[in-house]
Amino acid sequence: MREDVNLQWRIAARPEGNVRPSDFELAERPIPVPGSGEMLVKTRYLGLAPVMRMYMQGLNPSGETPLDIGDVIHGRGVGEVVESKHPDYQTGDIVQGQLGWQTWKVTAATPKERFFKCRDYGLPFSLGAGVLGMTGVSAYWGLMDCGRPKSGDLAVVSGAAGGVGSIVVQMLKIHGCRVIGIAGGPEKCRFIRELGCEMAIDYKNENACARVGELCLDGMDLYFDNVGGDLLAACLDNLALGARIVLCGSISEYLREDRFALSNYLNLRRVNGSMSGFFVYNYQDRFGDAFDGLAAWIKAGKLKPIQDVVEGFENMPDALARLYDGRNVGVQCCSVRGEPETRDA
Ligand SMILES: NC(=O)c1ccc[n+]([C@@H]2O[C@H](COP(=O)([O-])OP(=O)(O)OC[C@H]3O[C@@H](n4cnc5c(N)ncnc54)[C@H](OP(=O)(O)O)[C@@H]3O)[C@@H](O)[C@H]2O)c1
Repeated sequence: MREDVNLQWRIAARPEGNVRPSDFELAERPIPVPGSGEMLVKTRYLGLAPVMRMYMQGLNPSGETPLDIGDVIHGRGVGEVVESKHPDYQTGDIVQGQLGWQTWKVTAATPKERFFKCRDYGLPFSLGAGVLGMTGVSAYWGLMDCGRPKSGDLAVVSGAAGGVGSIVVQMLKIHGCRVIGIAGGPEKCRFIRELGCEMAIDYKNENACARVGELCLDGMDLYFDNVGGDLLAACLDNLALGARIVLCGSISEYLREDRFALSNYLNLRRVNGSMSGFFVYNYQDRFGDAFDGLAAWIKAGKLKPIQDVVEGFENMPDALARLYDGRNVGVQCCSVRGEPETRDA
């Protein structure tokens, strides 16, 4: 990879269906120079999330600036401050924030970019792009604040082999729950059983909606939803008294032209159930508590940090495509400069 320029992935076309190579343009720009109150950050690891395809469509579901054709794609990750004229950051700091799909960034660390210094837990800093980044926070506060797991709960997790899902499954086990995971394909189902799921539903090869009913005869206490659509409707048909549904994501609906119409939400009434929307940036003042909690479980050997790392900035477009065709296992990340996941700064 060239180190004498700033490499950037920009939007070449609005995606239709999954993203394709022709939707992206690789641009070269001079490495920017920080002015007063700014710092130069060298991008080391970037996290990938389904929402990035929405950014490419010009949509703005998470409060980022809407993007035009030709703009650098939004993306958060971990970088190293290599020069600082910013009062709060020093050369050598490892930071996390809105770096964008580029190999260098000059920033004044504005509130909108949500930069902060990575806490040093003695763990690889690459985790800051995933399990100790926005994916981990989403799993942590989505489950703890909206899901409120209790020992003995029967919990269902969709997208269970993915980034958020693989963390949620393990957190549910830590809380003494019985877990049914839903994932695509026999290999992923084997993987989620190894993670602790008592039961696995392969939605690509089974009638997943019927299986949910068969496995939850007395109803489920908790559904952590990463996919929306028919599976959400099937879970709504199989709730126990006091059940909680956490609406984290709905990836099965993101490529649809029409809106999915949920017609059985009134089932919540009969069981005193609740369905909570959840948005990671609403927990910004509690990010640190999530990182501390997740890091403590990792260090205690209770939580495996599973990151699916593609090596090299040139592979960012394919890394995003992997989320929509289900090739990723755990949190999809990119090691921008092909560095191993070491602890060193
Ligand atoms: N609310 C928030 O603040 C927030 C924050 C972060 C993420 N999210 C949402 O949480 C969900 C998980 O995000 P993530 O970053 O951890 O991604 P992820 O789960 O690692 O990746 C997406 C996974 O979704 C599955 N998938 C793709 N198309 C599908 C379909 N049509 N039906 C069912 N499953 C499908 C694939 O697994 P299979 O092989 O099993 O199909 C794929 O691996 C996403 O919906 C995301 O938008 C929400």
